[in-house]
Formats: sequence, C-alpha cells, structure tokens
Amino acid sequence: MDPDRLLIAYRRIRTKSRELMAPLSAEDFRVQSMPDVSPPYWNLGHTSWFFARNVLHAFGRYDTDWRGFEFPFNSYYEGLGPRLARPLRGKVARPTTAETLAFRDAVDVAMERLLGDPGGVDRDRLAFLTTTGLQHEQQHQELFLTEILHIRWSDPPELRRPYRSESLPPCATAPVPLCFLEQTGGLVEIGNREGGWCWDNELAVHRAFVAPFRLANRLVTNAEWRAFVDDGGYRQPLLWLSNGWAKVQELGWTMPFYWERDGGAFRQWTLRGWSPLAADAPVCHVSFYEADAFARWFAAQHRDHAAVRLPTEREWECAMRAAGFAAVGGNFLDDDRLVTLAPRGDGSTLLQLGGDGWQWTASHYEPYPGYRAFDGDLMEYNGKFMDNQRVLRGGSLATPKDHIRVSYRNFWPADTRFQFTCVRLAADSPSA
Ligand code: AVJ
Ligand code: FE
Repeated sequence: MDPDRLLIAYRRIRTKSRELMAPLSAEDFRVQSMPDVSPPYWNLGHTSWFFARNVLHAFGRYDTDWRGFEFPFNSYYEGLGPRLARPLRGKVARPTTAETLAFRDAVDVAMERLLGDPGGVDRDRLAFLTTTGLQHEQQHQELFLTEILHIRWSDPPELRRPYRSESLPPCATAPVPLCFLEQTGGLVEIGNREGGWCWDNELAVHRAFVAPFRLANRLVTNAEWRAFVDDGGYRQPLLWLSNGWAKVQELGWTMPFYWERDGGAFRQWTLRGWSPLAADAPVCHVSFYEADAFARWFAAQHRDHAAVRLPTEREWECAMRAAGFAAVGGNFLDDDRLVTLAPRGDGSTLLQLGGDGWQWTASHYEPYPGYRAFDGDLMEYNGKFMDNQRVLRGGSLATPKDHIRVSYRNFWPADTRFQFTCVRLAADSPSA
C-alpha cells in the first residue's frame, strides 16, 4: 500500500479508537474491574506505544522523551524490556489520562510526518509495520468494548449505566430453523491463500484433508441455550470435559456470563444495558467448555443429530471459503448494533459466518505446518501463545469488518467468557 493510502487508514483507525471512548467518564478510564480487563487509559497508551516502539523506532523517529512510557505500556514483549504486571494496570495513577492522551497525540504527529514524507525509508517495511500497528489497534478496539462492558457491569447494581443508553428498535424477524448443511470438504488449501497482509499465524498455506461434514446454518440461540440450562446442563458432569467440569464447580457456572435470573425469565447485561433474552439472537459470552458441553447435550437430545459436535477450524475455513467472504453477513462494529442479533434468511445458506460473536472451534491453537513467526521484536506477537488455547473464527459485534479474513484465527483459553464468544454446531456427515 502506498504511504498516502496508509496515512488515510492511519487517521481513520486511530480516530475510531478515540471515538469509541467518547462516552467514558474520567473514572471509567482508570478502572481495572478484573485482572484480564485493562483500563481504557492503558488501551490508548499501549496502542500508541506499539507504533512508537515498533514503527517509529525502526525508522529512527523514536523520541527519547517517550522512554517513561515503555514500562507501563509494554504488554508482554520480553524482548522489549521490563513492564508493569498486567493486574497492576488499574492500580497506578501515572501516566495520568492527560499524559497518556498527550503521548498519543505526539505519536500521531510523528506517524503522520513519517507517512506523509517517508523520504529514503524502505517503503515495504514501512507499509508492513504500519499495517501491523493498525491491525493491532483494531484488535484493541474490540478488547476495549469487551472491557467497558465488564467495567460498567461491575459498578454497584443500582448505579449501573450502559455504555450506550439507547436500546435498539425492535425488529421482527421470523426464526430461522436450525439445520445442518452438507459441506464437501476434500483436499483443500488452508491459510491465507487470498494473499495480502495477514498475521503470521495464518501461514504457511498448506494442504489438508477435510472429510465431508455438516455445518449448522446459524449460531446457537439464547432460546436453545435456555433449554440447556433448564434441562440441567450445568449439573450433568457427563456432558463436560474434565477441566470444564472443574471450572463449573470452582466458579459456580450455571448460565452464560452476563445472564441473570429475572423472576421466571432471564435478562442479560449488554453494551446497551439490561435486556430481556432475545430468543432468536445468538447466545454470547460462553466458554469453549460450555460450547463443547452444549454440543454433547444437543447430540443426546436429538436421535437424528447423534454426530453433533463443534467444527474444527479447518472445516470452518473450508466452509467460509466455499460460501465466499461476501457471505459473511453478520453484525460487526461498523454496524454499531453492539448486541447480538437474530439471523435473517430462509435458512438454506450459512448465516452469521462472521459478526455477532466469535465461534469456538474444536481446534487447539497451534502453528500451521511451515509456520514462521514475524521477524524481530514482533516474533512475540502470536507464536508464544500457541499453547493451551482454542481457536475461534468469524469476528464479533465489536470487530471492525475490514479486520477479518477467511483465514483469520482468534484464540483464547478454553474458560474465557468475557469476550464476545458464540457457538456454531457441526456434525459428521454420513457420507464421510
Ligand atoms: C488475538 C485477541 C487473543 O488480546 O491477546 C492484542 C490480540 N495481541 N495485542 C489478545 C492482541 C496483542 C490478542 N487476541
Ligand atoms: Fe496489544
């Protein structure tokens, strides 16, 4: 990409991060409501540090006045020096929010100068590093929304205020019956065969055999999840992986995160506040363990669905590529709905392939054959996390639509519930 177009993308994406934080109070900026939730000031500082340390530094444009920001805003890069431990991000008063915003502005001035007048720098390297910084910024836009959802939920019950106060106008959609659509599979290519910038974890493109399989036409709904709850799904150890059942007991899981009993019904906390469960909208904020147990319960409920399970990431990618990226449909950050939505369609095609919520896959997060981590300091970005996590596909209501691809791999530990995580079922095909 040429520097002019990069500059336009830079301004657009950096501005979006600030716009997302417009509704915050001064106090909101500093709250770390649990160790995994970074305070918003940190998010703004860390994404700016990323450009300072990984882009400007590489081209001799690093300002030594920024050294004091390295310790608080380095997230996990061992190679880039010591850092403030993650659980302490909400326990320090400095950098102040004003200092963080001034740092952000200074980084923007330096980045815009570099992109506006790249002089003798290696243009390909500049484009690669700047794009990486912008993709990182977009990941943190989604993280910010998951964080503010939790921060506002953690306020005293009577004083809780949603991130967005207006509720959505009701939209009547006919429920889409769940069905499993036959996918041919075969010897397929997996990874970023479409080309262009991608994360190192989407390469190398490699061949894999995917046996014929079936994929659910839509995501699992709140109503279906409620049936699982009512049937005692959270009390039947035989449905659960051993580590999942241990979490159920240790943490007392009885329903998705952000659900609460409300008389005989349930309500859920969303970015638009409390909402009665929308029966046909996708269930959100469930862990891999819950998704996996749900699939086992569903299979036991329906004789004709005995082979139901979660899809592998290769099956998922294969189906998405066959459907075409344009079919991704879904409800992304750009749509500004901020809640999961019921699908629209006659149910004969794959709906919600992207958007609404990330879809847990059965696959462990591992390097593809031929994997090579990014060069230099960015080698720590993805590779060192390829251990004890599961892959998710598709994107969420908080993901910018231009951030994802057919080959995009998200990953979280199997017990993660505070992200926008949903469930799509798959099944073995009798023709396999
Ligand atoms: C890909 C979402 C798991 O949150 O740790 C942000 C994204 N990486 N900064 C994470 C990320 C570096 C990453 N996830
Ligand atoms: Fe980061």
